[in-house]
Amino acid sequence: MWPLLVLLLLGLASCVKTQLLFTTIKSVDYNICNDTILIPCLRTNVDELSQKNMYVTWKFRGKTIFYYDGIKNQSVPIRNFSSAYIILKELLKGNASLIMDKSQAIPGNYICEVAESTRVGETTIVLKYHDVLWMSSNEHMLIIIFPMLAVLMFWGNGIVILKYNSNITKEKIIILSVTGLILSILVIVGVILFTPGVYSTSGTTGLGLIVVPTIILILCQTSMFIIVNGMHHISIILWAIQALGLVITLTGLSFSISECILVHGSLLISRLVITALVSLLGLVYLIFVVCSKKKTIQPNNKALNK
Ligand SMILES: *[C@@H]1O[C@H](CO)[C@@H](O)[C@H](O)[C@H]1NC(C)=O
Ligand SMILES: *[C@@H]1O[C@H](CO)[C@@H](O)[C@H](O)[C@H]1NC(C)=O
Ligand SMILES: *[C@@H]1O[C@H](CO)[C@@H](O)[C@H](O)[C@H]1NC(C)=O
Ligand SMILES: *[C@@H]1O[C@H](CO)[C@@H](O)[C@H](O)[C@H]1NC(C)=O
Repeated sequence: MWPLLVLLLLGLASCVKTQLLFTTIKSVDYNICNDTILIPCLRTNVDELSQKNMYVTWKFRGKTIFYYDGIKNQSVPIRNFSSAYIILKELLKGNASLIMDKSQAIPGNYICEVAESTRVGETTIVLKYHDVLWMSSNEHMLIIIFPMLAVLMFWGNGIVILKYNSNITKEKIIILSVTGLILSILVIVGVILFTPGVYSTSGTTGLGLIVVPTIILILCQTSMFIIVNGMHHISIILWAIQALGLVITLTGLSFSISECILVHGSLLISRLVITALVSLLGLVYLIFVVCSKKKTIQPNNKALNK
């Protein structure tokens, strides 16, 4: 009889001492893509729960940032964490996870403290912030390199025209130079803003500044061909390819700018590569035209000299 009683008492004592246990979650990560932050706090030894006996406290840097009082059935977020809340239905299942707006989240140690009748327990979760790459380093590099090549080709085209086309007017030279300068400045500023490769306002502005000059480039290329060669069918074909590509660029750009992780990046990049390639083709073609014109002029000159 006595040993049984002792066992019963021991059992009772251990019951009274029972600590609330939690699923061990050391840390959670978030990045710029998270709109809301969820800091998990999950109890393991859950039995029938009554909201009346519950008292949940969330602490950060030693201060209470949120509490839920089961007797009053009241959730209270405090000061800088005004967006914080828990879901009551989940709490009754032993899930006291705290949800808050990303703008109010601060990386660090969060303590979740749950009291239920005579049992209490707490767990600490570390909230960590990670910078996330907007795109892969390859995509990043290509987006920078090809627009710069395209601008270099533009200057190449301009130089060929100025050197070999004597009947070009001063106005046209000025227009071409100013356009070239604007293009170069836009791309350089764009590259500087875009180089960190992090999704941000300046990053998306940079991407826009890099991509949008391709429109100017297309207009310029067309006018250069018309200056040199008249409305030739090759000019028209090149222009048509560029115009088609333009639609793809703008579609790719609008996707890229609105997403925190680059989607349809290959669309945008293939487009930038095409712009640069067409500029290169344009340059080769221009040199070809200029050379063949010279060849046809030189024999005539010789004939005149005789
Ligand atoms: C952030 O979002 C990711 C992906 O949706 C998710 O796995 C992660 O738990 C979120 N982090 C936090 C702290 O809510
Ligand atoms: C506690 O409050 C929530 C809303 O805050 C309500 O939905 C729920 O019914 C309340 N529970 C009790 C037992 O009053
Ligand atoms: C709330 O935020 C302000 C600045 O945003 C800061 O100075 C203050 O210390 C914060 N208060 C708490 C309790 O964290
Ligand atoms: C805990 O509750 C949150 C909402 O507060 C929910 O998103 C999450 O999935 C729940 N976790 C589990 C393990 O039920």
